[in-house]
Amino acid sequence: MNEHLWFSADGLPGPALRECLAAATAAPSIHNTQPWLFRARGSTVEVIADMARSLVTVDPDGRELYVSVGAALFNLRVAIRAHGRQPRVAVLPDPGRPEVVARVTVGRAQAPTPEVTALAGAIDRRHTNRRPYRDRPVPATVLADLAVAGDRERATVIVADAARRSAVWALARTADNILRSDPGYRAELAAWTTSGGAGRRDGVPRDAFSPCDTNRAIPLRDFGLGNGAPTATVPFEREPTTLLVLTGGDAPADWTRAGMALERVLLSATARGLAATPLSQVVEVPRLRLLLADWANGLVLQTVLRVGYPATRARPTPRRPLEEVLLP
Ligand SMILES: Cc1cc2nc3c(=O)[nH]c(=O)nc-3n(C[C@H](O)[C@H](O)[C@H](O)COP(=O)(O)O)c2cc1C
Repeated sequence: MNEHLWFSADGLPGPALRECLAAATAAPSIHNTQPWLFRARGSTVEVIADMARSLVTVDPDGRELYVSVGAALFNLRVAIRAHGRQPRVAVLPDPGRPEVVARVTVGRAQAPTPEVTALAGAIDRRHTNRRPYRDRPVPATVLADLAVAGDRERATVIVADAARRSAVWALARTADNILRSDPGYRAELAAWTTSGGAGRRDGVPRDAFSPCDTNRAIPLRDFGLGNGAPTATVPFEREPTTLLVLTGGDAPADWTRAGMALERVLLSATARGLAATPLSQVVEVPRLRLLLADWANGLVLQTVLRVGYPATRARPTPRRPLEEVLLP
């Protein structure tokens, strides 16, 4: 591909790189905070964590912020590969600047593999779906593919068996109750939820809020809590397929890796016709998060995912335009 499509003469991103950066911004992020910025110079892009967008109540350490930026980094990598170039990635390249999550260099030409094409094709089709899923089981081969997707990003994805699933959901319900009673949590939800009008390009819009499970078994995050929006009650699937994403450490590099693994799993799921919802309340209450660590293997929980065949499609949520996230 011609170099001028990647970098213009003044060193700013050309149309191909702009497409890749737009793909990065399609990533999921906690409360749709989109806590990322990009600085492009020549063939290198810095992926920067925008600390001003951190959620001080649910995410005081910035863990979920780094997971979100890791998801955007994964999209950027895949988009560059899908455009026929090899990304060279240094995660947290500068110890003195922890906000620089990665430095990505557009490398030599490399034809995309079918897997890369499938992942890239799923970027714009992936949306968090908080509605009920069908009671159709996800085949073991598909779940194995999702575990491999996590593995490829050096994270561990565990498909919960019945015993682990009921433990996870019980703890998730407890976590949800703890958080709901915290005025700071409700204020943060109110700040990051919107009525879905044309003005705001971040936050979770009302039409993406979840209904409440009639059986109260699946505690999806109640985004209406922050602004008093009434929550409809409907029956959800009886045995939600539950995945746990864990890493071998719990520092910014591990959180970034967890984000890349999360997005790889989500895109792999989308490519296979599955929908997903991250469920983070249990990782936002530290003492409950610890209960779901895998001590024998030295793994800590980074996120919980519910996956399944959707009964209805989810709609895209807004994103800030590239001009807002591309630093001069
Ligand atoms: C680290 C992380 C944690 C998340 N936690 C939750 C959650 O607890 N509940 C939920 O409904 N969605 C959760 N999400 C999904 C975001 O709310 C969603 O990505 C965002 O609103 C943008 O919407 P989209 O995924 O449809 O593009 C999480 C996403 C990330 C990256």
